[in-house]
Amino acid sequence: MSLSKDFKQKYGPWVLVTGASSGIGEQFAHLIAAEGLNVVLVARRTDRLQTIVEDLRNQYGVEAEHISLDLSDANFLDSLLSACEGKDIGLVISNAGFGLKGLHHEIQLEKLSQMLDVNCRATLLITHSFIPKLIERGRGGILLTGSMESFFGVPWSATYSATKAFVLSLGEALGNELRRNNIDVLVLAPGSTDTDTHIAQGIAREDLPGLKSPQEVAKLGLEQMGRRSVYVSGFLNRQAIRILTKLPRKWAVTSMGAGVRKTIMKNRKRGRNSEPDI
Ligand SMILES: NC(=O)c1ccc[n+]([C@@H]2O[C@H](COP(=O)([O-])OP(=O)(O)OC[C@H]3O[C@@H](n4cnc5c(N)ncnc54)[C@H](OP(=O)(O)O)[C@@H]3O)[C@@H](O)[C@H]2O)c1
Repeated sequence: MSLSKDFKQKYGPWVLVTGASSGIGEQFAHLIAAEGLNVVLVARRTDRLQTIVEDLRNQYGVEAEHISLDLSDANFLDSLLSACEGKDIGLVISNAGFGLKGLHHEIQLEKLSQMLDVNCRATLLITHSFIPKLIERGRGGILLTGSMESFFGVPWSATYSATKAFVLSLGEALGNELRRNNIDVLVLAPGSTDTDTHIAQGIAREDLPGLKSPQEVAKLGLEQMGRRSVYVSGFLNRQAIRILTKLPRKWAVTSMGAGVRKTIMKNRKRGRNSEPDI
């Protein structure tokens, strides 16, 4: 696959990817390195990051570095900025995130709060810190990973959908603010993608029909940089959002919640739980 001809020129030479130790983020890293851009990868699992970094260096001959960080830590930003010191970062991908499914009051508050920190606070701090640098260099991009749940409050996934609504609003607004600075902003809103996040949420793969591969989702996202500000990956997913946004909001919320509840109850009957160790 090949991204647009000016991808490297506009978004290189360095790209920051959070949540790069697995799933969609790992695929962002591969696709970007394949274009000859250097990467800084962020996540908690050091062993996985080390392996990915070595693979990228060997396969594509690029510079690749990693920093193991918990983005829910109050002080992660200083370490992140030190790791990026001296690197001309042209594209910032804030992708790290996770969800928890279940009734709001039944999920541990500490875990919900951690989700808020990773999905929202880290995105806020990272965009706020890197935007002045992107403006100064006069070109670049920001990609934020949202979700199809960004568009509605989803019962049984209340906090996750609220965090992803934050990502959608932030990204849309930043896209408009930064248009004049030659900085592209995209919110990628994936539908169900075949990553470990579902297992962590206690949902079996077979209960998620139409799963896309993380590579396909990452590729679709990168291809949309500079073309639009919000992109729902997958034709059927886009149609679903189109239809749901035309329904009375209450119906759309009820219908999405019913789908999530049914899947959770089915998995709970099989003994799966949606409160992973995080
Ligand atoms: N898969 C889907 O169906 C789907 C649908 C819509 C949106 N999304 C979004 O896509 C993004 C990527 O998720 P994925 O599906 O690719 O799942 P994944 O494979 O579980 O990836 C999540 C990434 O986020 C990192 N992360 C989680 N908590 C972190 C923390 N406290 N500090 C630092 N890094 C952390 C994980 O790394 P470590 O565990 O090593 O820290 C991992 O690299 C998320 O924002 C998710 O909400 C996924």
